[in-house]
Amino acid sequence: MATIYSRPEEYDLEHGSGEEDIDFYRRLVQRLDAHDIVELGCGSGRITQPLAALAERLDLRVTGVDLSDEMLGQARAKIEELPAGCRSRVQLLQGDIRNYAVPAPVDLIVVPCSTLAHVLELEDQLAVWTRARANLKPGGRFVVDLSMPNLQACADSMASPPRALVELDIDQETDDGAHRLIRYKTTRYEAHRQRAHVHFLYDRFEVTDRDEQARRYVSDFESHVFFPRELQLLFLHTGFAVESCYGGYRFEKLSSTSRALVMVGRV
Ligand SMILES: C[S@@+](CC[C@H](N)C(=O)[O-])C[C@H]1O[C@@H](n2cnc3c(N)ncnc32)[C@H](O)[C@@H]1O
Repeated sequence: MATIYSRPEEYDLEHGSGEEDIDFYRRLVQRLDAHDIVELGCGSGRITQPLAALAERLDLRVTGVDLSDEMLGQARAKIEELPAGCRSRVQLLQGDIRNYAVPAPVDLIVVPCSTLAHVLELEDQLAVWTRARANLKPGGRFVVDLSMPNLQACADSMASPPRALVELDIDQETDDGAHRLIRYKTTRYEAHRQRAHVHFLYDRFEVTDRDEQARRYVSDFESHVFFPRELQLLFLHTGFAVESCYGGYRFEKLSSTSRALVMVGRV
């Protein structure tokens, strides 16, 4: 079954522009005074491109790693539009975040937008952390960015009979109003494996003067649901110290109502 990653333009439409995590990463590289940066699972360049746009001014070198041809193609097209002084400081590598290699150790490795939730097995998660540790300079940071577990969705899965509520979670239009994407989501949670089975159902509308024609498709994901203490253990077990933990993209502290879970490990 194809996922949204084979439709990178729709991935970008789904996310819209100006999401607050983009600004978080712009501020993060400056706060940490990082210059050599790797983004794991860089996808369509949603975060890579805004960082690359700062590359000349802040003396950054940015490397994006992703498995998907289609997503990397979209990222490449965005990087091509940057001034040459920025473009030349970016490289995109097709590779697996469990076993990529960069030519020289870097200051900062980031994994935005819950990419790590795609890494389901413990041995693969350990491989991601171990690779990050090996690719960082002494004092370098590994920043992991996930959603906090949605206990309400988990609880619905444990009702008898189990329920999977349909949630309309995205409704985005292109700037010219010609396309509209609506996303519906259901989550079924297997508590004993911390595994969420997520079904996304998309309606993509072509908006004309006369009517709105919809094209519908589904995209299924299995994702690992990480809890904060588990992330901490992954960092500690692979030789990092946990430096900070945020519950949102304004560097706010993690709390019981946080939606995001961003942990920073330091070598
Ligand atoms: C949620 S998207 C995030 C894209 C981008 N970082 C952003 O913030 O928009 C997840 C990306 O991770 C990539 N991915 C998933 N598993 C991967 C793996 N094992 N190795 C490399 N890339 C992977 C997918 O192809 C996809 O582009």
